[in-house]
Amino acid sequence: MHSELIRVQDLGKSFGKRVVLKKINISINEGEIFALMGPSGVGKTTLFRILNLLEKPSEGRLFFRGSELTGGTICENINARRSMSMLFQTPCLLNTTVFNNVAFGLMIRKVDKNTIREKVMNALIIVGLEGNEEQKARTLSGGEAQRMAFARAIVYDPDILLLDEPTSSLDPANVAMIEEIIKRIRHERGTTIVIATHNIYQVKRIADRGGILLNGELIEVNSIERIFEAPEDARTKAFINGEMIY
Ligand SMILES: Nc1ncnc2c1ncn2[C@@H]1O[C@H](COP(=O)(O)OP(=O)(O)OP(=O)(O)O)[C@@H](O)[C@H]1O
Ligand SMILES: [Mg+2]
Repeated sequence: MHSELIRVQDLGKSFGKRVVLKKINISINEGEIFALMGPSGVGKTTLFRILNLLEKPSEGRLFFRGSELTGGTICENINARRSMSMLFQTPCLLNTTVFNNVAFGLMIRKVDKNTIREKVMNALIIVGLEGNEEQKARTLSGGEAQRMAFARAIVYDPDILLLDEPTSSLDPANVAMIEEIIKRIRHERGTTIVIATHNIYQVKRIADRGGILLNGELIEVNSIERIFEAPEDARTKAFINGEMIY
């Protein structure tokens, strides 16, 4: 039996008259790497923002470790909020050193200085940025900036990491590094990882299960083997083979 970390039930989201997500149902299990696939503009970031409690759903319910989050205030949901971490599609950098950028989440949690140093250095080693801690974040290359943002996302040991297209603007070397970091974090810390990506090959390389969003609906959720070898929905096959017209 898998233990369920997140459950999304009949979730819908509209912006004005525009329906972006319809009746989404997903369970994310503890310790898995789940890939959310789908064409541009389909609502992947919107779903991530709802999971991360940055946005409220228009319909449906959201559960974290069996407790309902929907309708709760920020204060009531603070524990769930603090168990999650999101890596945004474009990293936002604070205009300070790499160290301070990574330390930020711990500083606002009022963690003591020695622990902050230890955790920040550990996160920087994992992402291959040890030695860059005093560099101004704005002078980092794109790949380094993304790895720094990754360090910031993992520094407080979240239970769940939401990665929104973490490699879409990176070169192959940085893509490979980020994929290794993802696998390492899951292996060493048992972190549950949800990743939104356009990169089908990446999904094959790192994910255990996946779901495909099309026209606001989650058309299939399955193991990666099934999605690639025996999909249940004909549209999944077309998407995987790059035959989808959108
Ligand atoms: N706050 C908002 N107000 C109005 N429309 C929005 C808002 N946020 C998102 N949308 C719309 O919702 C749709 C889904 O956007 P979203 O960013 O979730 O797509 P996505 O799947 O992440 O795309 P991409 O792969 O390009 O990042 C888009 O058409 C977008 O314009
Ligand atoms: Mg997006």
